[in-house]
Amino acid sequence: MRAKIVAGNWKMNKNLAETETLLAELSAKLPDSTAEVMVAPAYVNLASAVRTLDNSKIEVIAQNMHYAESGAFTGEISADMLLNIGINTAIIGHSERRAYFAEGDEILSKKVVAALKNGMRVLFCFGEELEDRKSGNHFKLVESQLKNVLFSLEPAAWSKIVLAYEPVWAIGTGETASPEQAQEMHAFIRKTIADAFDATIANNVTILYGGSVKPGNAEEIFSKPDVDGGLIGGAALVADDFIAIIKAI
Ligand code: 13P
Repeated sequence: MRAKIVAGNWKMNKNLAETETLLAELSAKLPDSTAEVMVAPAYVNLASAVRTLDNSKIEVIAQNMHYAESGAFTGEISADMLLNIGINTAIIGHSERRAYFAEGDEILSKKVVAALKNGMRVLFCFGEELEDRKSGNHFKLVESQLKNVLFSLEPAAWSKIVLAYEPVWAIGTGETASPEQAQEMHAFIRKTIADAFDATIANNVTILYGGSVKPGNAEEIFSKPDVDGGLIGGAALVADDFIAIIKAI
């Protein structure tokens, strides 16, 4: 059985005091769930978040990481730095990193390889823009995003990979993919992986949906057979909303 996951990507929100407040509220209200729960606060607050959640089932993860081991990369953070403060998972390939920080397949490949080499788990994000969907190019685009970054990996690497399909047109827009659109794409992703590797890898990989998931639509999206949870932006910043989404799974 593949893992169910609900992850909150806080993006550039919440200072230290606000981070501590939200984490305390989440810890106090966390429901008993078989799903894994993750939160990704901003870099400067990661170490403190790990300490705060020391006895909690919530895993703290990073929003990004650099591919180099160390060196002259002003402003960047390495895998070793994350591991050293107790972070074992990094989001890689978020559409905002792709769009605003020019992270393309080549850089993302290096990041994924570096994370895996350091024994980290990768939450790999990808998804099409609105124009791709309108022109019917969305399946091709998603296939190439997967292929260019993940298909040269060793089969064993897949035990450390979680996928998050996030159609760019649904991120922060309030417009979510319909449960049918999410299921259709997730099934396509699983088939693409089965074709490139094998059915066992495809069936075992967790595929999250991200893009305007809210308490009101989470249950229907999560009910789809190939949707294994969600990567949540805006709604992860409000404790009651995030808790409701965890309960929906
Ligand atoms: P929203 O839930 O705010 O649409 O953001 C989704 C997202 O980008 C999570 O990484």
